[in-house]
Amino acid sequence: MIRKNLFGYTKDEKEVDKYTLENKKGTVVTIITLGGSIQSFVFQGIDMVLGFDRVEDYESQDAYMGAIVGRFANRIGNGTFQIEGKTYTLVKNNGPNHLHGGLDGFHRKVWRSEVTEDSLHLYYTSPNGEEGYPGTLETEVIYSLDEEDALSIQYKAKSDQDTVINLTNHSYFNLNGHAYGSLEEHELQIFADRFTENDENSLPTGNIRIVMHSPMDFMHPQLLLRRINENYDQIVLGNGYDHNWIVTGNGFRRFLKAKGLQSGITMEVFSDQPAVQMYTANYLTVKAKGKEGVFYPKRSGICFETQGFPNSPNINHFPSPLLKAGQLYERKTTFRVKNR
Ligand code: BGC
Repeated sequence: MIRKNLFGYTKDEKEVDKYTLENKKGTVVTIITLGGSIQSFVFQGIDMVLGFDRVEDYESQDAYMGAIVGRFANRIGNGTFQIEGKTYTLVKNNGPNHLHGGLDGFHRKVWRSEVTEDSLHLYYTSPNGEEGYPGTLETEVIYSLDEEDALSIQYKAKSDQDTVINLTNHSYFNLNGHAYGSLEEHELQIFADRFTENDENSLPTGNIRIVMHSPMDFMHPQLLLRRINENYDQIVLGNGYDHNWIVTGNGFRRFLKAKGLQSGITMEVFSDQPAVQMYTANYLTVKAKGKEGVFYPKRSGICFETQGFPNSPNINHFPSPLLKAGQLYERKTTFRVKNR
């Protein structure tokens, strides 16, 4: 069942709607049309994502709270890339690099919406040259919640010129509840034996490291608390985890399993993407109060951003993010929750 309500208005007076997806078991997901953001995800009475109650609080933060990120998730080195010898220049909104589609990326857009049976369809057409990217890009993101408590996100896009693309969702999860305040009490397993090494600006250098014998190894379940403060160069550089794990295998497969030790809630993430950025909110600085008047400190949530490799437009041995003119980009990610 899907309901629609008014959520509020943006500064420039655009209407923002809130859609409530509810299954028969009473699991509820709310999505707002601003940024196509997941505003809440309530399972057995526990709201497992950080979020805000007011449009102005979404507009005042730059943490990409719950939002669809595009055109290109994560960093593009120097804010520049080439397609067939032609150089494109993007805004540098993260030190020397371009991050998450720019200053006015997909997270800032009010998406057009439509409901079909049990799915919410969001649409945004990004004009040619927006934020520096080539091609008019027609984007559709479909949210659906099933009776097994799985929230699926499907991404579709088409461009009229060759372009690069990397779409994801930037929800901050806390399986012990959005108000819990810290993320350490999670057990985590990531089905990845390699990750991409970062430089001091969290940009992949091109080197691929194996996780073995390092605190990046989550092949077997690990307590986050034990690992997140280890003295490992990559964790020190990122002030915590902020890395791209290369998930083993191909096609739609299980990426990871996370468990909130207080709530007992387990979440499994499935995707057909090549990789996932786990970001432990190391730099989260939001002044606005979150839902229920709660303040969200650093490291109070975890993002699991299923994605293509960051900086892949500039690194030839990474899977190519090129979307040819007229070709259909299609990706899917599912977050499924259970209790024990
Ligand atoms: C990135 C972080 C960045 C954050 C912004 C994450 O996806 O990996 O480096 O600071 O988004 O909220």
